[in-house]
Amino acid sequence: ETVEWSAEETGKGEYDHYMRKEIDAQPEALRGTLAGRIDGDDVHLEEFPPGTFEGVEHVHLLACGTSYHAALVAARQLTRAGLPTSAFRASEYYDLQPVDESTLAVAVTQSGETADTLGALRRAREADARTAAVTNVVGSSVSREADDTLYIRAGPEIGVAATKTFTSQVVALTLLTHRIASDSEAGTVREDAAEFLAALEAFPNAVEELLATTDARTVSDDNMGRDAHFFIGRDFEYPVALEGALKFKEITYEHAEGFASGELKHGPLALVTTDTTVYALLTGERGEETLKNAEEAKARGTHVVAIAPEGMDVGGVAGEVLRVPDTHPDLAGLLANVQLQLVSYHTAYGLGRSIDKPRNLAKSVTVE
Ligand code: G6P
Repeated sequence: ETVEWSAEETGKGEYDHYMRKEIDAQPEALRGTLAGRIDGDDVHLEEFPPGTFEGVEHVHLLACGTSYHAALVAARQLTRAGLPTSAFRASEYYDLQPVDESTLAVAVTQSGETADTLGALRRAREADARTAAVTNVVGSSVSREADDTLYIRAGPEIGVAATKTFTSQVVALTLLTHRIASDSEAGTVREDAAEFLAALEAFPNAVEELLATTDARTVSDDNMGRDAHFFIGRDFEYPVALEGALKFKEITYEHAEGFASGELKHGPLALVTTDTTVYALLTGERGEETLKNAEEAKARGTHVVAIAPEGMDVGGVAGEVLRVPDTHPDLAGLLANVQLQLVSYHTAYGLGRSIDKPRNLAKSVTVE
């Protein structure tokens, strides 16, 4: 792989912020991530030919921040494919689970330079794990330290808050899941592989459609003054709820939290008032269940914004709705996430925040 990041790619162009440009660049970034990597009902990863992952019995995903949320999505995919998998916050990865040569430790890091993630990868390697990296930056430290590297090929990301690289990470990890599931004796490739991979190939178009039709700006205008912003989801949408809240707090500086929707009644409901907004992720196989949880919140007087598939009736519960185009249910949460990226962006814009360089944060944190 060579570095081919042009001046055009690294300039802001007509955009006010890199973040906005990078949100809009997601279809293109995804085309880069996918190029040449899907072949009918199989994936083709040059870096990982078939057979690479023979002998892998379980997987540890190591990451920080937004990359950790991508890892949470992948952990669910891998576990469903028969491979016991845990995602760890890299800074918390100490003697938590047995590690040996049947462990595959995967560092997920956009920059490839995050000290916490590199540290966790080293600890896994010292315990005899096989190692891999999923990163955006060619020649980064992680690519030199891991046995093998899968590049997400999303192009340069300048905004401190990760957007297009999250989406590309999840898609790259989805391809990697397929490879691991077919190589490992423990794994099984999903029954609907052909259909799922076709949806993945069409996914950049779905993002394009969403970007052309979104009402995120109106939603952010309507909810800007609230005391707190809560994001709820379950299954693949739970990591999206966490990511939605992280993005929101990073760039708006407003109070935002992500919750598993089923956990609302076990505590967070106490925070819900007439001055809060709950953003309910209703995409995916478990959307109807989250709708019920949103209803419980609504009954306490909160404002509900639904992020829902076309055609889903959210009438009595949500005051506002952001629709996501049709796609495979396991991918719909990623589309919902794009809506949330835009809500965060427009809210931060309205509040006059330093969107590309939020206070106290750095794009790449190279100290532990
Ligand atoms: C910093 C950035 C986050 C990022 C995290 C992990 O905290 O501000 O946006 O998600 O590092 O970065 P990485 O490069 O390892 O994905």
